[in-house]
Amino acid sequence: MAGIGSAAVERSLTKENVIYVDSFPQGMTDTSAEEPSLHRVASVGEIEAGEASVVDVDGEQIALFHVNDAYFALSNVCPHQGGPLGQGRVEDECVYCPWHGWQFDVESGEHVQGDDTVPTYEVVVEDDEIHVRV
Ligand code: FES
Repeated sequence: MAGIGSAAVERSLTKENVIYVDSFPQGMTDTSAEEPSLHRVASVGEIEAGEASVVDVDGEQIALFHVNDAYFALSNVCPHQGGPLGQGRVEDECVYCPWHGWQFDVESGEHVQGDDTVPTYEVVVEDDEIHVRV
């Protein structure tokens, strides 16, 4: 009897029995891929030029940099060993990780000497309010 049940399960999982869909039927939504949205994180003037602030957006730690009259947002987590990039020294449009000195471009998130990249986030300044798209 147990063998019959196993055979039935195996048959139901064959490739021919799987239905792939390109879209969800009306009334159903894909909750696994939420669209990023803008979050207000600071006001213009709160972060001195050449400085950074760390903000939390939905549990994500984001380092917000004020460099050359613009704002840039990177993950606060260094890809090397997790150092807090928002506490790093900023120089020549790069942030130096405070733990071991890896250097990242604040605009692209690229590691200056290697292949690692820090995730970046779009920054929108509107009516003197700074927003980050997460
Ligand atoms: S943790 Fe950032 S350089 Fe090591």
